[in-house]
Amino acid sequence: MNIELTEEHLAVRDAARDFAQNVLKPGVIDRDEQQRFPAEEIKQLGELGFMGMMVDPKYGGGGMDTISYVLAMEEISKVDASCSVVMSVNNSLYCWGIEKYGTEEQKQKYLVPAAKGEAIGAFCLSEPEAGSDATSQRTTAIDKGDYYLLNGTKNWITNGGSASYYIVIAQTDVEKGHKGINAFIVEKGMEGFVVGAKENKMGIRASDTHTLLFNDVKVPKENRIGEDGFGFKFAMSVLSGGRIGIASQALGIASGAMELAIAYSKEREAFGKPIHQHQAIAFKLADMATDVEASRLLCLRAAWLKDQKINFDKESAMAKVFASKTAMWVTTEAVQVHGGYGFVKEYHVERLMRDAKITQIYEGTTEVQKIVISRSILK
Ligand code: CAA
Ligand code: FAD
Repeated sequence: MNIELTEEHLAVRDAARDFAQNVLKPGVIDRDEQQRFPAEEIKQLGELGFMGMMVDPKYGGGGMDTISYVLAMEEISKVDASCSVVMSVNNSLYCWGIEKYGTEEQKQKYLVPAAKGEAIGAFCLSEPEAGSDATSQRTTAIDKGDYYLLNGTKNWITNGGSASYYIVIAQTDVEKGHKGINAFIVEKGMEGFVVGAKENKMGIRASDTHTLLFNDVKVPKENRIGEDGFGFKFAMSVLSGGRIGIASQALGIASGAMELAIAYSKEREAFGKPIHQHQAIAFKLADMATDVEASRLLCLRAAWLKDQKINFDKESAMAKVFASKTAMWVTTEAVQVHGGYGFVKEYHVERLMRDAKITQIYEGTTEVQKIVISRSILK
C-alpha cells in the first residue's frame, strides 16, 4: 500500500482545514443549538468542489481520489460533523451511486447538479421496520408499464428536507427477496411524495433528518438504477464506499477533540503546573494520539484500496468500527481533560461527544460492520 500524500492531497486538506476553521467554526455552536441546516455553508462547499469530490469533471465533479475525500472529511468533521454528514451522503451515497451505476441520461439530469453542489442528494434505505435488516423492505414499487407506483415510508433520511433528489430503495417483487429490490431516483415535488417530520436529535443537530412518505408516486421507468433486481446489491455496494466517509467523519470528530484537549492541557494549570505535566493527563493524550493515528491509517487504507479498484468491503467496515469507537472514547476523555469547562457549549468538546455517537449507528451499526468483517474473514 502506498499512501504517501501528494502535493495535491495536502492542498485539498489545507483548503478543507481553512474552510472549517474560518467559515464553519464561528457559527457551529449556534447552528447546533438551533438545529439550523448549514445551507449557505453547503453552497460554499459546493463552490470549492467538495460536494462531488470524486466525480469525473465531465459531470461537474472535482475528479479527486478517495484519499482526498478522507482528508477533507476529517478536516470538516473536526469542526462541524453536521456539515460533514451532508457532504458524505451527497458524495459517497448519492453521487458515487449514480456515477457508477446510472445511465448517461441519469448522470446528466441528476448527477451534474449534485456534483456541482447546486442540488443536494439523499439516500433512502431505512424504514421503520427495516434498519440493520435491510432486505425486509416494505416500501413497494409496482411495475405499471411506463412507470413504477411507489408506496411506503422511509425514516431517518439525512438531507430529507434539504435534498432535491432522492435515491429510494423499494421492493418490486416480494417473492424474489433481495433479488426483487430496486433503486429509483425520485424528485422532490413528484405528486404523492411528502417530506414528513424532522427529528430532534442528540447530535449532528444541524443536519436535517426526516421521515419521507410515498403515496402512489409515479416514478418513470427510466429512473430505475441498473438492471431489474439490482437494488439491494446497489445499496450494499454504495454503502461500502459510504462507510469510508463515515469512518473519516468519526476520525475527524476524534482528532478535533484531541487537538482541543492538547491545547487546553497546555493552558490550564492545577497544582502549580500545566495539567499536561500530570502524567495521568499526558498518558490520556498519548492514548488518544495512538488511536487517532490508527483510525487515520485504516481510513486511508480503505480509500487506497477503493482507488486501486480492489475490493474494500472488509476494510471500510474495519475503519468504521475502529474510528467510531475511537471517536466515542476520545471525545469523552477530551471532556474529562477540560474538567467542568468541557461540560459547557463554548469549549466545543461536549458537541463533539454528542456527535460521535451517531458514527456507531448510521451506515450500518457497529454490529453490522462486524457481520461484514466476520463473514469476510471466515469465508
Ligand atoms: N456489494 C455488492 N453486493 C453485496 C455486497 C456488497 N458490498 N454485500 C452483500 N452483497 C450481496 C450478496 O452477495 C447477496 O447477493 P447473492 O444472494 O446474489 O449472493 C446479497 O447482497 C444479500 O447479501 P447478504 O446475504 O449478506 O444480506 P443480509 O440480509 O445477510 O444482510 C447486512 C447483510 C450486511 C447486514 C446488510 O443488510 C446491511 O448492510 N445492513 C445495514 C444497512 C445499512 O447500512 N443501512 C444504512 C442506511 S444509509 C445511512 O445510514 C446513511 C446515513 O446515515 C448518513
Ligand atoms: P436496528 O436494526 O433495529 O438495530 C437495533 C440494535 O440491534 C442495534 O444495536 C443493532 O446493531 C442490533 N442488531 C440488529 N441486527 C443485529 C444482528 N443481526 N446481530 C447483532 N446485532 C444486531 N438511513 C438511510 O437509509 N438513509 C439515511 O440518510 C440515514 N440517515 C440517518 C441519520 C440519523 C441521524 C440516524 C439516527 C439514522 C440514519 N439512517 C439513515 C438510519 C440508520 O442507517 C439506521 O438507524 C441503522 O442502520 C440501524 O437501524 P435501526 O435504527 O432500525 O436499528
